[in-house]
Amino acid sequence: MKVKKRFVCKECGYVSASWIGKCPECLSWNSFIEELIEEHGKKETFHKDNSIKNIQEINTENDKCIITKNEEINNFFGDGITSGSVTLITGEPGIGKSTLLFFIANSLSGNEKVYYFSGEESLTQIKKRAERVGLYKNIFISNQVEVESIIKTCSTEIPDIIFIDSIQTIYSENVDSNSGSISQIKYSTEKLINFAKKKSIPVIIIGHITKSGELAGPKVIEHMVDVVIYFDAEFTHQFRILRSVKNRFGGTDDILLFEMKENGLILINNPSGYFLDKDCNENITGRCRSVTMEGQSPLVVEVEALVVPSVYSNPRRFSEGVDIAKISRIAAILDKHLNQNLNNYDIYVNILGGIKTKDVGLDLAIASAIYSSKNKLPVSKDKIILGELSLTGKIRGLYKLENRIKEAKKFNASLIICPKTAGTGKDTNIRETDDIIDAVKLL
Ligand code: TYD
Ligand code: MG
Repeated sequence: MKVKKRFVCKECGYVSASWIGKCPECLSWNSFIEELIEEHGKKETFHKDNSIKNIQEINTENDKCIITKNEEINNFFGDGITSGSVTLITGEPGIGKSTLLFFIANSLSGNEKVYYFSGEESLTQIKKRAERVGLYKNIFISNQVEVESIIKTCSTEIPDIIFIDSIQTIYSENVDSNSGSISQIKYSTEKLINFAKKKSIPVIIIGHITKSGELAGPKVIEHMVDVVIYFDAEFTHQFRILRSVKNRFGGTDDILLFEMKENGLILINNPSGYFLDKDCNENITGRCRSVTMEGQSPLVVEVEALVVPSVYSNPRRFSEGVDIAKISRIAAILDKHLNQNLNNYDIYVNILGGIKTKDVGLDLAIASAIYSSKNKLPVSKDKIILGELSLTGKIRGLYKLENRIKEAKKFNASLIICPKTAGTGKDTNIRETDDIIDAVKLL
């Protein structure tokens, strides 16, 4: 059999006979990698039924979801885990993806039979982890990694749900490139999706990605699967966030926040406000609350600033969680429009809980915290401050402002300071302003 050489775009999977610098499909640069292939076997389609039917004739009775014991997990997936659905969970190595599979298993009723195929760890390793995080009694584990043999195993003793850990370790003899290659990943995923749909069994697939997106295999299968979930620690280093970026059965608004403990993942029930210093003293200066967006979810957070006279010729700016350039920009705005003379002061800014964000909606809260520290003027914790700052000292409207205001109200804010675009009319707890000088007066 002849071995063919081809080039595949690692971003979108576009195939070319020769190497090209720029992908004609997704326009990425330098994204083509060489692959040796020898494909035999014919391509299957997911849905064998070629007829056309009136939508009313379609029977959905047998399409049952797996309802877990965990309300948050059910809502996150839609209304439980849909039968025949294929979910991709991606994240960096070591983030906790395998642990998350056990968390999901442990939230099942105990009657569901789980088949867990791992090419990552030995059976004893898997058992040891399971004992640490809680041993789900109805789980069957295997080191099978050949997709055809996995499908065969699941066809004889039909499980209720299948876990694949990870797609990078799965291969097929029908594709003659190494496991982890884009062809192997695409082919195996296609086979698994086909099987999931035919047997109405949900499949959860783990895929590794690196920070720089180097191993872009999982990107290529995102459009093939029903649900795409990212698991990361970007938002705050001690915690893990689960967010869905695509969900054919539910919304993508929710996030789940987990803490990684010695005995596995702990789900945090109300993530918004979790990072606030709830019983802090009212007279503290340099602290102010705001609402940031994490994906589609609003979260109430606390911004801290410390402004102290500088002993250096160049005043210092330190920040954790927000870009340092933003701090310099906000300091310049405060200098220009409120005569703060911050050139003689060092400024430290932090968001409680180790939260990292690029959200411009925190600009005015950062400015307020700096102003509060510099002028020894406490900002009450019932005040919540929202808005993006323009260099002109004006306050701009915000993405998802309505959701942020709604979230702020849940925290019984006595005063919400926000941009003029809110259009909140007569609400006495809300003060709309488009100017930093006005906003500071309201503090
Ligand atoms: P793991 O689920 O193996 O990550 P992934 O499958 O994404 O590669 O978990 C990785 C890390 O989590 C590992 O470095 C150890 C830590 N960990 C805990 O802190 N507590 C635990 O109970 C478990 C299972 C893991
Ligand atoms: Mg793992």
